[in-house]
Amino acid sequence: MTDEILNIVDKRTNASYDVPLFKDAIRTADLKKIKTDPDDFGVMGYDPAFLNTASCQSSITFIDGDKGILRYRGYPIEQLAEKCSFLEVAYLVLFGELPTEEQLKKFVTNITYHTMLHETTKKFLEGFRYDAHPMGMFISTVAALSTMYPESRHVHDASNRELQIYRLIGKVPTIAAYTYRHGLGFPYVYPDNDLTYTENFMSMLWKMAEPKYHPNPVMARALDILFILHADHEQNCSTNVMRSVGSSQADPFVSAAAAAAALSGPLHGGANEEVLRMLDEIGTKDRIPAYIESVKSGRGKLMGFGHRVYKNYDPRARIIKWAADQVFQVTGRNPKLEIALELERIALEDEYFIKRKLYPNVDFYSGIMYQAMGFKPEMFTVLFAIPRTVGWLAQWQEMLQDPEQKITRPRQIYTGHEQRDVAPMDRRGVVVAAG
Ligand code: ACO
Repeated sequence: MTDEILNIVDKRTNASYDVPLFKDAIRTADLKKIKTDPDDFGVMGYDPAFLNTASCQSSITFIDGDKGILRYRGYPIEQLAEKCSFLEVAYLVLFGELPTEEQLKKFVTNITYHTMLHETTKKFLEGFRYDAHPMGMFISTVAALSTMYPESRHVHDASNRELQIYRLIGKVPTIAAYTYRHGLGFPYVYPDNDLTYTENFMSMLWKMAEPKYHPNPVMARALDILFILHADHEQNCSTNVMRSVGSSQADPFVSAAAAAAALSGPLHGGANEEVLRMLDEIGTKDRIPAYIESVKSGRGKLMGFGHRVYKNYDPRARIIKWAADQVFQVTGRNPKLEIALELERIALEDEYFIKRKLYPNVDFYSGIMYQAMGFKPEMFTVLFAIPRTVGWLAQWQEMLQDPEQKITRPRQIYTGHEQRDVAPMDRRGVVVAAG
């Protein structure tokens, strides 16, 4: 606590209140003491969609949206993407420091030994319709893991928590790959423990009859970088869900499934899928100005543009653009890239987007790159969910260890009827005169 004080004068009563400031925030619970009389409930904060409310203290991820800065545990995202592997970054996000060689080796072993799914979980996946959306399959299967590991509900046991964290991070690529192959009607490929996290994922996706899958190193590194960029993003919609569901002491599998459900929405992780649909709809470069005009006149949004926090270029979008270029050198350029680049150029010069500080976000280029790698748009959000599982778990663990946190339960401002009496059936629908 600092000794900075915010002084509030209540003009209704002329009473003056000192409210302590902490890192430029007040505890809205302190507003409760502002009352007109002793029976008054006191003043509350009203903040739909949490535009200006911090729900927690966190030491995991730092974002400065105006300057376009993203750091995990103090390290700039650019350096992590250039110098680290995804599992190094996962260790950092989870435990607060970059691993030593020995720590990393142990961590990699722990994750690698939890990549297999129980055969009944595989059968559970087989039960989905041939055209089931991969994200629906992913969400349901992550939730179903809760039934495999009932001890995971002991969320206050630190070593038990650690085991579930390894399990979930180990198994999400396997589930994701199974959802992909299910759609294609291909047999499932079991994990290969000789490969890295990303390479093994590629093997489970694309291995056919060959005895050993040899991933293309450029593609593997590009995917690894994308995983690094998506590992955490402080209190976004899905992370808030993870913390909120986890605050009821639900186990980490059902909590992560709920978070993944939040991620699936088109305004969140589902946006990368929508970007591709939008680029398809635009079709050719000459149709871009008309499309932008239709967005400005209120017909939908420019998908992959805008962000609640970034009011400058999303730093992840810049790195993805670079990673996409590496992939295109292997796969050939995705024709949609030309449309995306031109769309970005025109939008960034347009007064509508400038005024509202709308820049490309992480989803604008990731889909184009994923498509060049051979993924259908339906898979894009699943690819996002794999690395974000690390962030969800780090935030979940931080929440459970925070002595200030309790079950999440916002207040509301009630706008409904005053008390009224239940009318018999034959009188309902009749407007009863007051009095
Ligand atoms: N295209 C056109 N106009 C937009 C866009 C967009 N993509 N995004 C915001 N605006 C406009 C709004 O209509 C609003 O205009 P107004 O002031 O005239 O009413 C203004 O910009 C402010 O937008 P809000 O919706 O208030 O911003 P908010 O912070 O609530 O929304 C969001 C952020 C959801 C990301 C929004 O920008 C959006 O829907 N973008 C498209 C979907 C998308 O790409 N989502 C991915 C986000 S990144 C992620 O989750 C991983």
